[in-house]
Parts: sequence; C-alpha cells; structure tokens
Amino acid sequence: IPVEDFDLVIFGGTGDLARRKILPGLYRRYRSGQMPEGARIIGAARQDQDSAVYRKLIGAAIKEFVPEKYRDSKSIAGFLELISYIVIDAQGAGGWSDLKKLTRKDVVKAFYFSVAPSLFGDLAERLHTYKIADSQSRIVVEKPFGRDLASAKALNAVLAEHFDESQIYRIDHYLGKETVQNLMAVRFGNILFEPLWNSQYVDHIQITAAETVAVGSRGAYYDKSGAMRDMVQNHLMQLLCLIAMEPPNEFEPDAVRDEKLKVIRALDPVNSSDIVRGRYEANKDGPSYLEESGNPDSSTESFIAMKVNISNWRWKGTPIYLRTGKRLRARTSEIAVVFKDPPHSIFGKQEGRRGNVLAIRLQPNEGMTLRVTIKEPGPGGMRLMEVPLDMSFADALGADAEDTPDAYERLIMDVIRGNQTLFMRGDEVEAAWAWTDPIINEWQERGDMPKSYDSGSSGPEDALMLLHKDGRRWREIKE
Ligand code: BG6
Repeated sequence: IPVEDFDLVIFGGTGDLARRKILPGLYRRYRSGQMPEGARIIGAARQDQDSAVYRKLIGAAIKEFVPEKYRDSKSIAGFLELISYIVIDAQGAGGWSDLKKLTRKDVVKAFYFSVAPSLFGDLAERLHTYKIADSQSRIVVEKPFGRDLASAKALNAVLAEHFDESQIYRIDHYLGKETVQNLMAVRFGNILFEPLWNSQYVDHIQITAAETVAVGSRGAYYDKSGAMRDMVQNHLMQLLCLIAMEPPNEFEPDAVRDEKLKVIRALDPVNSSDIVRGRYEANKDGPSYLEESGNPDSSTESFIAMKVNISNWRWKGTPIYLRTGKRLRARTSEIAVVFKDPPHSIFGKQEGRRGNVLAIRLQPNEGMTLRVTIKEPGPGGMRLMEVPLDMSFADALGADAEDTPDAYERLIMDVIRGNQTLFMRGDEVEAAWAWTDPIINEWQERGDMPKSYDSGSSGPEDALMLLHKDGRRWREIKE
C-alpha cells in the first residue's frame, strides 16, 4: 500500500531508540523505494545543535545499525536530506512555534514520543496548544506504558485529553515481527490447524522468549521493572493473545483487538505456586544480576516461568506456559503448540514417543516446524519415529535473515498508513496490567526473592519442575 507524504516528528530524536531502531528503519524503507518524495523527518530534542550536526549523527547511526549490504552513499545522502532537527523544550515554550512553522498543513503528521512517559502529557498538551497537531495527526508511544494499572490509566487519560484513541499508536515491537504476523496467517489462512486449535486436541502451549544478553547498562531501569513488567505484561501477552484468540471477523484493527482483549480478560489469576522467578549468577562472561542492577537489596527477577490458564470454552484445561529471561543458553523465541496423543494407539506402547508439535520460531531463523510421526524406515517392523516437517522462511523465500524488515520499519509505516491493527489499544494495555498487578503485589507482600540460575543455563531448576509436576517438559532452549 503506498504511503502518502508525511511529516514525522521524533521527540527524543537523539536518544537510543531513535538511533538504533527508528531512523535506521526509516532509512531502509527509503532505500527500498517505499518512502514518498514528500516525506520529512524532524528530530526534536533538548540538545542545542543544528540540522547538519543531527544529520551527521543519523548518518553514523545508519552505519552502526544497518547491515552493510543495505548501505550505499547515494541512498544515505538522499535519506539524510529528508531530515531536519529542532531544539525543543518539552516542558517549556522553547521551540514550539518553530515546530509549528516546520510542519506542513496538508500532510499526515505523526509524532513519535520516544521520551520518558512522564513527558507524554507535556508533549500532548503543547502539540494541541500550539495547534501543531490536527484531527488527522497520530502520536506514537513506546513501552513501558505504565508500571501498573493505575499508572497506565493515568497515561491513557493524559493522552485522551488531546487525542482520540484512533490517533494513538501504542507500540509493542513484537507485533511488528514478521513471524508474529505470520501466526495469524498460519492460523486463519489455513483450514488445517484451526479445527484442532482447542483444548480437545492441544495438550499445552509453550511460549519462550530467551535472551543471551544481560541487563548491562540498563540495570537501573530494569531493576524497577523485571522480566514480568519488561517482557510478560507486553510481548509475551501479545503472543499469548494471538495464539489463543478467536478468529476475528475481518483483519481490521478493532476486530483483531477486540478478540485479543477477550483473551486477556479470560485469563485466570495465577497461583504463586505456578510461577518461578530467577536471577542470573556471574560467570566468566559477565557479572551477576545483582552486581549489574547496582542494587544489593534487589528482589527483581531477570527470568520468569509461569503457567497460565484461560477460562473460556476453547482453552479451559489447556495450560499455556510462558518463559522468558536474560543470560540464558541461547537467543531464541518460539511458540510451541503441543498436541495430545491420538486417542488410541494401534501400534502398542511406543516408548519415548512425544507426539505432534507445531513450533513457530520467531527468532532467529524464523520458520515453522511440524513434528509428525512416521514409520521408521527399514524392515524392522512397525516402529514409529518422529520427523520434523521443517520450513525456514529464509530458505523457502530465498531471503536471508537480514532481509526481513525490522519490526520498527513496518510499524512506523503502519502509523503513516493509519493502520492500528498491530498496535495496542488502551483497554488492552489496561486489561494486561489488571492481570499483572496482583501477581507483582503478592511478591511484594510476601517479600518473594528470585531463585538464582547459572548464566548460560535454561533458568532455575524450579522452572523445570513447573512442567515436570504436570508430567510435561520444556522444549530445549537452542538456536
Ligand atoms: C524490550 C525489552 O522490549 O524487548 C528488552 O525491554 C528486551 O529487555 C527486548 O531485550 C527483546 O526484544 P527482541 O526484539 O530482541 O526480542
């Protein structure tokens, strides 16, 4: 779908996200010819510098964060010409009249709030007071969208003072990942899976987002957040919604988001015995979580595993196990749908058989594997074995991993197109916090401490037990 001319203002234009993701993503769109000639990008921040210096900064960011094969001086120069910079005081008057002059009347205007949430209200108000935003304008906000239900409600309220819900784009970058969208294509574009997609045929589902990175320099932020707020409330929750939701009537923003919301509202409260929290120990490759957090009294988790139940007709009785953590064995994110055994085995008892599993790999090596049972080849009688029907998107489509558009590329273009399907609605975010809050509150009341786990492992021992006690086991964390 072609994109109209636009003005994109990035508040926090010199920040980490702008340099790492937003501007490199926009550059790639430009290079692939998907940015209209009339696009303008305006970085806005506090630093006193001019557009020429800002362009240099962005040029350097492209060099650092865009793979070499996508960099050529002609397109970089062309892209940088679209960019200007403005000094702005988010909480004062400085720069706002200039911004008004810089933005055009007759084009789509998008304002990316790549700043601390405490500034959302100030920005929204000034965009309104200085008549920079109009009824067609859009604002883009990032996580963390609140740290609990009360703060998320307050943020929603502040934004709602000046913008309609249809103008607000809450980013969860997991929704921009290629395979996450593929999940909907696989579920609703095939007849094969949906008839089996319920508690009658699905034994359980595992959702894993394992990382090898540590919290590193983000220790101060992370320690106030932890894996539950940083990954589960948003990214894993979105995956859970997409895997569990009912088919929407149409692929339209509110049709999809209505169905996701229903899933969140159907989640049972989680028993504390169904949650395992962990934090990593030091090893030769790096310090422990406690050291990195800079807080010797920290009770924050860098790992969490939990069992979640959905109380609705489709899923009652089929648990969903979630797991995410830092400094684990491998970087891998996947969703695995583990099917039940056939009702009766005509082949007698087959030791070690594990049944059908549909695994959807989000990263790396995006793809899908369906494990099926076949007869072991040869004359040895009717012995069964499992083989994977393996599909790597890169192989199937002849692309390499770097060709997959980054989540941000897609999402920013969706903002310009005015398509909110892959963005979280206010009520969705609030429902997710309403489910998360009691869990976190209980840890605080009990003074719960995370279990330690070895860096480079699969998390604490207790996380294995979480499935063992249900007669199940986690899939291996491997690339
Ligand atoms: C971010 C979290 O939202 O997602 C980070 O704040 C995490 O802690 C990151 O590392 C993971 O994203 P991805 O795309 O690398 O899986």
